[in-house]
Amino acid sequence: MIDSHCHLADPAFADDLAEVVGRARQAGVSGGLCVLSCGNDAEEAAAGRVRALWPDLRFAVGVHPHEADRFAAGGRDAGEAVREALARVPGACAIGEIGLDYHYDLSAREAQRRVFRAQVGLARDIGLPVVVHTREADEDTVAILREEGGGRVGGVFHCFSGDAALADQALDLGFALSFAGILTFPKADALRAVAARVPADRLLVETDCPYLAPVPMRGRRNEPAFVARTLAKLAEVRGADAGELSAAVTANFARLFGG
Ligand code: NI
Repeated sequence: MIDSHCHLADPAFADDLAEVVGRARQAGVSGGLCVLSCGNDAEEAAAGRVRALWPDLRFAVGVHPHEADRFAAGGRDAGEAVREALARVPGACAIGEIGLDYHYDLSAREAQRRVFRAQVGLARDIGLPVVVHTREADEDTVAILREEGGGRVGGVFHCFSGDAALADQALDLGFALSFAGILTFPKADALRAVAARVPADRLLVETDCPYLAPVPMRGRRNEPAFVARTLAKLAEVRGADAGELSAAVTANFARLFGG
C-alpha cells in the first residue's frame, strides 16, 4: 500500500514523526510521496528528518496555487525557484502540488495561472510528472495542461473531487486520479460513482495528511496509516479485492514516481 500524497514535513508532525512513520509501516504502507511547498525553508529542513526516518518515501516540490501571489510579488519565476528546490531535495521525483484553486482564491487567478503554467513548462522540459491540485477551476486547469504539454509528462490529479467530465479529461490527458478520505464521507456518493469507473491502472490513494482524515477518524489529524481506510472504501465501491487493489495502486505509483 502507498500514500501517494502526504505532508509529513508539516509542523503538525513535528512532535511525533517517528511514531507516525512507525504506525504507517505497521499498517502496511510501504512508501509514498511527501509533498513540499517550494520556498518553505522549515519544510525543507523537516524533509531531511522525514527522509531519515522513512528512506523509501519519494518527494515532490512545487509552488502551491495559494502561494502564487507571493511568488509574483517577489518577482521570482516559479519555474526557476522549483528547479533550484528540486536540486536541493534528494529523492525529488515530481513537481507539485501545483494547479489552480478558485474556491479559496487565496492568490489572484492571473498569478495562479502564470505560476501553474511555468511549472508545467518546467516539468515538460525536465521530464518530471506533476501533482495537480485543482478546485473549481476545471476548465483552466485542463487547458493549461494541454497547452503546456502536461500530457507528455503525466502525473496525478491529487485529492480528486471533481465530476465525471473532469475525470474523463484527466484520463484523456494520461493522468492518474488519486482519491483521499473524502471518498469515505457520507455525502460523497457522486465521487464514489466516479471512483468506481476509473481504470484500475490509473488509480491512486492518498491521505493528504494532516488534512482530510477518512471516516471514522474524520476531524482528527490525518496520517499515512489511515490511507488503509480509503483503500478499503475504494475496494468496496469497485467490488474489488482489497489486496489486489492495493497491489495495483502500488504498481501505479511506482510507474509514475519510481521507488
Ligand atoms: Ni496536499
